[in-house]
Amino acid sequence: MVVVGCQWGDEGKGKIVDVLAGDVHVVARYQGGANAGHTVHAGDDEFILHQIPSGILHPGKRCLLGNGVVLDAIEFGKEYDELEARGIAVEGRVGVSQKAHLVMPYHRLLDQVSEDRVEQKIGTTGRGIGPTYEGKAGRRGLRVSDLAHPDRVTSLVEEGVARARRRAAALGGELPGDVPAMVDEALAAGERLREFATDTGLEIVQSIRDGKRVLLEGAQGTALDLDHGTYPFVTSSSTTAGGAATGSGIGPTVIDAVVGVVKAYTTRVGNGPLPTAFEPDMDEKLRELGGEFGATTGRPRRCGWFDAVLARYAARVNGLTGLAVTKLDVLDTLPEISIATAYRTPEGEAREFPADTWQLGEAEPIYETLPGWEAPTGDVRKLADLPATARRYLDRIEELTETPVQMVSVGTRRKQIIRV
Ligand code: IMP
Repeated sequence: MVVVGCQWGDEGKGKIVDVLAGDVHVVARYQGGANAGHTVHAGDDEFILHQIPSGILHPGKRCLLGNGVVLDAIEFGKEYDELEARGIAVEGRVGVSQKAHLVMPYHRLLDQVSEDRVEQKIGTTGRGIGPTYEGKAGRRGLRVSDLAHPDRVTSLVEEGVARARRRAAALGGELPGDVPAMVDEALAAGERLREFATDTGLEIVQSIRDGKRVLLEGAQGTALDLDHGTYPFVTSSSTTAGGAATGSGIGPTVIDAVVGVVKAYTTRVGNGPLPTAFEPDMDEKLRELGGEFGATTGRPRRCGWFDAVLARYAARVNGLTGLAVTKLDVLDTLPEISIATAYRTPEGEAREFPADTWQLGEAEPIYETLPGWEAPTGDVRKLADLPATARRYLDRIEELTETPVQMVSVGTRRKQIIRV
């Protein structure tokens, strides 16, 4: 089973994965890196996981980071140690693909210098994601398997630093700080990674052969996918369900279900168009109600109405078999709720998500407005117990996306979930 985000990330995948992880044996991440921030509440504790899959909070589950992930060894080490310090038994439960690429300090610094200097800013998380995937596609990256070969590491790192310095200079900047010392620190952290190195694809396929269930956990969302998102305002990996196969080392026929996570409204952090964006007052109101601040960067997220054009597109691109709607409770106090069903564009009415991001930027949503339920939903555990207007809202999402709603999250806690 794959769990993917269907908007611009921050859909609440961490919570859904946490709920579903109870039913599976293995949870694997297949793309992205420390740009992700999956917030999970277990009991009274809040955990924000950037690299280790959310399944780690369930005792005994094996958690893998696939070949499609870019790994920041220092951040990984910190996250691992923090989990252990907070009483989570992590030993023997985490595996890292031998083929995963390492995010090095020069990638991170270059990401930050680029964002400072280029005219068209993407609004990245500054975690070195773009430069690391560039190095991977350029066939000069450093992989986990290289760590056992010091000569190889030295030459790849020397070339990487020199290239990043040249690029920063071409942008009119420089890599700040003591880069060699930072690289040494990263390589020391990398040494520790060697004990986690594994063949993730082999582990997953063997687990399935043994009758075990595997969950592939996506990071970011469909509209941030390198191919299918709002390019160039995207992340540098394949966030969609197709990426789950390449990014974990299995064939697509092994995947039996794709659960798409949508928030009951829309948010976006970073630059690029958000067609259903609210006016400032409503934007602020929803941000407060939903706690819409980035889990990785703390940046305020822009908020807007549910965009069914995007969600229907996500259903198609990912081949969704079901939807998980999150944060329904955030809308509890609103008297009316709108859904964008199509866009008005200079070329006429559009029912499909445009390929051209500038065209999307000019798109004006065509809304359908439904009555709100103006009642608390946080204690509801059965669909039938939701107010009729809330059920109508969910039915409309289901109709417009042509995808059955299988789960509805009505709060941050594990138990605040309706399984349909
Ligand atoms: P990068 O992934 O750091 O290169 O950032 C590229 C774009 O993806 C920016 O708009 C980021 O704000 C966005 N992005 C990256 N990771 C996340 C995430 O986990 N949630 C939401 N947006 C993200």
